[in-house]
Amino acid sequence: MEVVSLVNGCSGNTAGKVIICKAAVAWGPGEPLVIEQVRVDPPQKMEVRVKILFTSICHTDLSAWKGENESQRAYPRIFGHEAVGIVESVGEGVTEVAAGDHVIPLFNGECGVCRCCKNPNTNSCEKLGVDPTKSTMILDGKTRFTTADERRQPIYHFLNTSTFSEFTVLDSACVVKIDSEAPIKKMTLLSCGLSTGVGAAWNTANVEAGSTVAIFGLGAVGLAVAEGARARGASKIIGVDVNPQKSIIGKQLGITDFINPRDSDKPVHEKIMEITDGGVDYSFECVGNLEVLRTAFLSTYIGYGTTIMLGIHTSPKLLPLHPMELFSGRKVVASVFGGFKGRTQLPHFAKQCMEGVVKLDEFITHELPFDKINDAFQLLMDGKSLRCLLQI
Ligand code: APR
Ligand code: ZN
Ligand code: ZN
Repeated sequence: MEVVSLVNGCSGNTAGKVIICKAAVAWGPGEPLVIEQVRVDPPQKMEVRVKILFTSICHTDLSAWKGENESQRAYPRIFGHEAVGIVESVGEGVTEVAAGDHVIPLFNGECGVCRCCKNPNTNSCEKLGVDPTKSTMILDGKTRFTTADERRQPIYHFLNTSTFSEFTVLDSACVVKIDSEAPIKKMTLLSCGLSTGVGAAWNTANVEAGSTVAIFGLGAVGLAVAEGARARGASKIIGVDVNPQKSIIGKQLGITDFINPRDSDKPVHEKIMEITDGGVDYSFECVGNLEVLRTAFLSTYIGYGTTIMLGIHTSPKLLPLHPMELFSGRKVVASVFGGFKGRTQLPHFAKQCMEGVVKLDEFITHELPFDKINDAFQLLMDGKSLRCLLQI
């Protein structure tokens, strides 16, 4: 098969050829990513090859990179699932996108034909839903990435997307076309963090005007919940975070009250009950910590309060609830990708973002060249960034 190297910036027609380009490869849990040349195969049947323009790092990349979930350990691997790009070429049978289209990668795909995709009450997809244990393409169980040296070692995929690469191959169920007029850089946020948070408030909780909300963990995901709740007219939005700096950015994004659990010995749920006369209508867990999940549960109003879980928890762990506690009427539900069906509903959300329904700029706290990806990981680990955009 013909090979074209883009390492020195040469371009031209690359369709049907193997592309050699740069990617950030993870060789082992917690090891710094290595920017190196990789081979990217052409897209096969119902696949799409995308040139990534911008990518950013979400906490899920961080957890996977650290190897916190033992079932995810496949190396070498290309992480990354929050990005925006341009279709370079499409495989046999792909009709919904074409070369040149601006697209958002979807870690939670939408095949459109499975029973879940046909059900309006879920955004799960039985074929290409989010699955951190999956590390190859579903068509043939193989990777489309290999090392550029003569060993041609397979490099595994991550979350259907693997965006820490100049080019990546995705199933066509895992890309959605967006308006070419949309501000491409900011659209990166819609690929995970912003959609996950705003959608959890709008689609999963369906926050009503005047309702009260508590958000645990004010990273990009939690703050996107705050934006979603603010846009819906929530009367009180309580932010809880152990990092005191988060109160400053939180106040810019709809947080009305801030609680740092480390500031007093009083349990956080008791404080929330005081502020809200008995508990919030909705609480959101955006940390991935079981104790926090329990506090979020106890912070809602008895009888109908709902806790929405967004944080990713390491395995093997079980819910910290006694089954009888659910007879109180409090509910716990999880939200994946904000409940959005990616291909059918994200274009409308992108339009709402362009119209200014939710703020975008505040979420992009840093920008770095792709080569500095390890610095971007550090910024997130240190709690200094919400999203650091990497230009590839
Ligand atoms: N109590 C309250 N806040 C906490 C606690 C705690 N015990 N521990 C950590 N936090 C805060 C951090 O200070 C940080 O502000 O949670 C926030 C997490 O934010 P990020 O690391 O920026 O993560 P984000 O990308 O927003 O993702 C949050 O959602 O999608 C999932 O896997 C993702 O589990 C992660 C969560
Ligand atoms: Zn994410
Ligand atoms: Zn499906």
